[in-house]
Amino acid sequence: MCGIVGYIGEKRASDVIIKGLKRLEYRGYDSAGVALFNGELEIKKCKGKVVKLESLLTKDDQARVGIGHTRWATHGEPNDINSHPHTSSNGKLALVHNGIIENYNSLKKILESKGHTFYSQTDTEVLAKLIEDVYSKNSDDFKKSVQIALSQIEGTYGVAIIHSDFPDQIIVARKGSPLLIGVGDNEMLIASDASAVAEYTDQVVYLDDGEIAVIKKDDYQVHTLDDNSLIKEVHELALSIEEIEKGGYEFFMHKEIFEQPKAISDCLRGRLDPENGTITLGGIKDVLEKMADAKRLIIAACGTSWHSGIVGEYLFESLAKVSVEVEYASELRYKESLIGEGDVMIVISQSGETADTLAALRQAKENGALVLGVVNVVGSTIARETDAGVYIHAGPEIGVASTKAFTGQVTVLTLMAIKLAQVKGTISKEKADRLIKELNRIPSKMEKILEKSSELDAVSNLFSYAPNFLYLGRSFGFPVALEGALKLKEISYIHAEGYPAAEMKHGPIALIDEMMPVVVIAGTNHTNDKMVSNIEEVRARKGRIISIITEGNEEVENLSEFSFSVPDTEDEFSPLLTVIPLQILSYNIAVNRGCDVDQPRNLAKSVTVE
Ligand code: F6R
Repeated sequence: MCGIVGYIGEKRASDVIIKGLKRLEYRGYDSAGVALFNGELEIKKCKGKVVKLESLLTKDDQARVGIGHTRWATHGEPNDINSHPHTSSNGKLALVHNGIIENYNSLKKILESKGHTFYSQTDTEVLAKLIEDVYSKNSDDFKKSVQIALSQIEGTYGVAIIHSDFPDQIIVARKGSPLLIGVGDNEMLIASDASAVAEYTDQVVYLDDGEIAVIKKDDYQVHTLDDNSLIKEVHELALSIEEIEKGGYEFFMHKEIFEQPKAISDCLRGRLDPENGTITLGGIKDVLEKMADAKRLIIAACGTSWHSGIVGEYLFESLAKVSVEVEYASELRYKESLIGEGDVMIVISQSGETADTLAALRQAKENGALVLGVVNVVGSTIARETDAGVYIHAGPEIGVASTKAFTGQVTVLTLMAIKLAQVKGTISKEKADRLIKELNRIPSKMEKILEKSSELDAVSNLFSYAPNFLYLGRSFGFPVALEGALKLKEISYIHAEGYPAAEMKHGPIALIDEMMPVVVIAGTNHTNDKMVSNIEEVRARKGRIISIITEGNEEVENLSEFSFSVPDTEDEFSPLLTVIPLQILSYNIAVNRGCDVDQPRNLAKSVTVE
């Protein structure tokens, strides 16, 4: 969470930083700020979005060095004072921070007793004053002072620091929060993710935990906190500017919903061979035997990625006949850890930076499990730390509400499950051939859904001001119900719950009256009869049925106040189609309600705090 950008070079630093912050705004948008070195340190910061910060900057600033921040508040409400950058007491040092300093209270007390005054309620201000305090005793070595100060920090940080005694450098360090260096021609950038640097360079160096770098416009030196010098690999970025722009759409989410056929084609390309009924997954080819030997698989993820994990559970169990446990990554660490050697964990993450998922990964690895990643962002921490994995290749997802990453994750899990089933011999050749051929048709079936998306306008308008929604599904429809409800609540702020359809009778049915829209995912064929009974139960209580059906399902259509059909497919692939109308429904409702679809309140795209 929180976006960090820094620049040192020949260009106007504020231009590069503001542009970068706008690209990173999806990481947090409570407040924004910059520190520029213009002969002296100049700080501008405010509550609100980056455009507001931009309006505070003067047109004639000539700074060539600076750091910027867009915040997702952890400690201290979003206001001007709590905005980053924070400064040392003497005003010579400014820093921006992503993460949480857990021992900030005790450090603050010590620093207060030494005469420092604190103005904000943040944990971050402590670090600015702590570095100043250490530097006052080690005035010959600023980097060392930062290393000493950071070694006293408990918690996580991605941090960028400038100091007016060293106007030609930026210091950055990382523990638990992502940071990279963009290596340019006589210029360097730093950022918490690559989209902020892609316009200027395709050469990046990812910092790892416990590393600190001193960055000048023509050089960077990376060390460990205890000062061992490191040679870091320079990675080539494969990120085009078009991918991170809206391309004529009003919101990234809208663009990303409509990109799904292409995203899934990209995900399948080179992996699926429908002619020969084969699947090639280079990223896991060396661990397939180990996967085949595993008595169980554990899937760990958060949010939407957890929902795709439940689809994964159904897929692996039905096709590869292996028992699967799907865990909230955030809860795993509080359970007695029984995950160890012989177990295979699959972590799923769009960003590849989610703190809880990363913690689950590390714990499982430490205990001897094989850990595989299903990740979208290439080069992200989770992608780098897993033993093996399969990238989603959905392209950058910028809208805070996940759409194409969900269908991309489900596609990868589908590929993995069929492949594992083939390796284990738990699927017949005939069935594998049929599934592989059908998977290849999914992008064009998605196109068909998107082409008729305006059919959802009327129902979106009718229910835009409903206070509650219920989503029901069975089997592969259940995780889709969860995902549909999450999409609605996060971008439109309407309360919504997803349930396995049969669970309705165990409680939620009490909520149903003539005011309650009930979205029924009736996309799988083998659960149809049971879904019909559930629909009747809702209708008997005057609930308003909105159904997502397979083409030709007249029985459910006739029982529904509104229904939207998706092309027929194999049950296993139904989530890839039925989720799309739910994404569109949520999007339409959020737009009708005047919500900021791409940046819903209180949320951030990449949750790098626990
Ligand atoms: C919801 C959403 C979140 C993420 C969750 C995990 O639309 O985007 O629930 O799915 O924060 O993020 P990743 O997948 O980046 O680990």
